[in-house]
Amino acid sequence: MKLKDKISIITGAANGIGEAAAIKFAQEGAKVMVCDINEAGVQNVVKKIEEMGGEAVVFQVDVTNKESIEAMVSQIMDKYGRIDILVNNAGIISDAQLNKMTDEQFDRVIDVNLRGTYLCTRAIVDIMIAQNSGSIINTSSIVGIYGNFGQTNYAATKFGVIGMMKSWAKELGRKGIRANAVCPGFIATSILDPMPEKVIKAMEDKVPLKRLGKPEEIANVYAFLASDEASYVNGAVIEVSGGVVI
Ligand code: NAI
Repeated sequence: MKLKDKISIITGAANGIGEAAAIKFAQEGAKVMVCDINEAGVQNVVKKIEEMGGEAVVFQVDVTNKESIEAMVSQIMDKYGRIDILVNNAGIISDAQLNKMTDEQFDRVIDVNLRGTYLCTRAIVDIMIAQNSGSIINTSSIVGIYGNFGQTNYAATKFGVIGMMKSWAKELGRKGIRANAVCPGFIATSILDPMPEKVIKAMEDKVPLKRLGKPEEIANVYAFLASDEASYVNGAVIEVSGGVVI
């Protein structure tokens, strides 16, 4: 088990990639803090982990709400006394071409994807510094490397989480903390629900592997980066996209 007894926070863990990560981390022996704005969703994931014989805790938290993040962190410290892993996975899209994008659409995506990642990491960093250990994983996207049609707001956040991660990798490496980013390609989760069928089909055709990725295929990479197997991986940006942009 790669993550035995590691205290892990996964944001956006009620669905999709975050849910797959919560289950994978539990299979690898981690104690999983299942964090999401969707309360019924987190309860469901925690139940699944408990049924597998794993340990998980429900945290209904909005990553844009500093007080609720701080309350989560203090509850985790009271119960476990440490935090080993933070996966900043929560994210939303709200697409429009630039000339049609509203300021509200822009601000909301920045708030969740970028500021949420900052707030969660800010809330745990002193704990990891005091421990002299930790692994932080930011979920970016291939859109955070290449940009995308209709995604001015999302691209800004996904470039941004890479920029923050690289800064943390430089600042925190000497404190025994590693920071890395994962850039999923097209992964079959509900985030793709607003996309028309023909756009999804076109996505599949573009991928050399000729299919969408599965949430578990991202979760496996999170688990590697979180584990001691990745002890010399710091500041890395890892594309997990079936080779869609080669
Ligand atoms: P999803 O929509 O299935 O899951 C996202 C989760 O984040 C949901 O459970 C949602 O409730 C939660 N969430 C949203 N706002 C929140 C908030 N304010 N506070 C706490 N939780 C919140 O999406 P998916 O696909 O699993 O996405 C996970 C991450 O992967 C996101 O950061 C996304 O941008 C990224 N990603 C996904 C890709 C895909 O094709 N599915 C491609 C590239 C990146």
